[in-house]
Amino acid sequence: MWIFGYGSLIWNPSFSYQDYRLARLDNWVRRFWQGSTDHRGVPGYPGRVVTLISEPAGHCWGVAYKCGESGSQQVIEKLDYREKGGYHRESVTLNFIDGSTIEGLVYVAGPDNSDYLGPASEADIVTQILSAQGPSGSNRDYLNKLANSLRNLSVTDPHVFSIETKVQSEINAEISIR
Ligand code: SIN
Repeated sequence: MWIFGYGSLIWNPSFSYQDYRLARLDNWVRRFWQGSTDHRGVPGYPGRVVTLISEPAGHCWGVAYKCGESGSQQVIEKLDYREKGGYHRESVTLNFIDGSTIEGLVYVAGPDNSDYLGPASEADIVTQILSAQGPSGSNRDYLNKLANSLRNLSVTDPHVFSIETKVQSEINAEISIR
């Protein structure tokens, strides 16, 4: 069984795996469009975390983890609980750099879940990320960890990196006022 991580599962898979590889998912893009009320925000003050949005010709790079068949049910149960804030499992085809493909599972938070926030201006996303905090830590920490993990994988994601730059500008501006 292969599981594809494109958000927090990149830096914190929290399950044991036999192997991992950089992988690409075609026709999907990563967006900060999912509200988080159980990890990076709280009910009434949700944070913004990433989900996958269907986009023909788009793609999303992430990490594919290979899990042994014996422990796969336990892994799914653990991830179903962790991703319960609006995410459901989907079967997808994962592409590796060498051109090979494999079937895998991915957690997607679609527009029909109650925590879904959808598109917003980058300025609004930045404001929300700077103020949100939840049981798993600050929303800013989620953004930093995601951006750093993508850089470590040599993956470029204009959406994530643009928001990271704007968040840092806001913080710098705040510091210079003080
Ligand atoms: C994922 O990482 O694959 C799902 C989204 C998240 O937990 O951030």
